[in-house]
Amino acid sequence: MEIARVTLGMPELRPGTTGHGAPRPGGTGAGLLDQFGRVATDMRLSLTDKCNLRCQYCMPEAGLDWLKKDKLLTAAEIVRLVGLGVDRLGVRELRLTGGEPLVRSDLVDIIAALRRNHPELPMSLTTNGVGLAKKAKALADAGLTRLNVSMDTLHHDAFLQLTRRPFLDQVLAGIEAAAAAGLSPIKVNAVLMRGVNDGHAAELLQWCLDGGYELRFIEQMPLDADHGWTRDGMITAEEIRGLLSGTFDLSPDPRSRDGAPAERFEVRTAGSTGLLGTVGIIASVTEPFCADCRRTRITAEGKVMSCLFSREEVDLLPLLRAGSAMHDDDAVASRWQDAMWSKPKAHGMGRPGLGDAGFVQPDRSMSAIGG
Ligand code: 5AD
Ligand code: SF4
Repeated sequence: MEIARVTLGMPELRPGTTGHGAPRPGGTGAGLLDQFGRVATDMRLSLTDKCNLRCQYCMPEAGLDWLKKDKLLTAAEIVRLVGLGVDRLGVRELRLTGGEPLVRSDLVDIIAALRRNHPELPMSLTTNGVGLAKKAKALADAGLTRLNVSMDTLHHDAFLQLTRRPFLDQVLAGIEAAAAAGLSPIKVNAVLMRGVNDGHAAELLQWCLDGGYELRFIEQMPLDADHGWTRDGMITAEEIRGLLSGTFDLSPDPRSRDGAPAERFEVRTAGSTGLLGTVGIIASVTEPFCADCRRTRITAEGKVMSCLFSREEVDLLPLLRAGSAMHDDDAVASRWQDAMWSKPKAHGMGRPGLGDAGFVQPDRSMSAIGG
């Protein structure tokens, strides 16, 4: 049906909204645009909510009620969604996440299929590294290039305390195997917790610099299933810089940040001039970068989350399973666009005392969203 167009120099209204906030106007192009003018080009797709670790800042000790298999996106649905994102909605970069994506037995096949369809797409995987040693070569052969491994400490006792599992050696072997398989860059993500591994920051950075890995510290966000996060308990970006400064001199990386969540610093041995490498600090809580956010997230059961802290989810699964004609691709793409149109301006955690009063922790933990 032809929609009547009236040219008023304003976007026209188009049917179909998420039911929340203002409807998405037509004439906004094919991309994943939101009402504040941001365009999402960075797709984070969770492959599973399951995980074999129980990190304190994410999962409860007993785990969570994992999704039933028939609720998970299938490999074919994943390939279709990424195709829609890349070919029609302007996605330029893909990150596969979880839960722990390596627990999915069809992971290598999924990556191979995605690489066949999108030979040039920057594609990375975020993993906790458990089981990586066995799979690194197959992942690289399937077409994965970049890798993010979560590892918060090099100490067995602290690793056990943080993750509640004694798998540090497996993670270290996984990182080594990934490097040997040619995956590059390999980034290491670390969350610091007070009294557990905050004393290990400089040592971890030295280890990453020596191995050629890019370390990024992530401020702990209130995304733990136990709801134990407190503002006083979290280690801020400022503290992290302080923890490193006894050993290293940090200076802002002159390269453009270009929408990246991590603020990068050049690292030199304290008091000397030779550049050792860089370190990133992701200050989601104390120095939020919402205004520059380019991310669109899809959970393992096919729900679009426009923001990590979004309390609204838009389910694509019914549409994905409602048929297979091209017409349905239009419907899925349009619903995805509607979901992103409603992306909140900011997550509202703010700085202490500055606008954080209205912040409500989302029901989903990090593992159930996709990092
Ligand atoms: N705050 C910050 N980072 C978190 N991660 C998991 N939970 C949290 C949290 N509450 C990290 C993981 C992983 C990345 C995807 O997110 O350590 O590296
Ligand atoms: Fe698993 Fe990652 Fe959550 Fe740790 S942070 S429990 S590795 S999903």
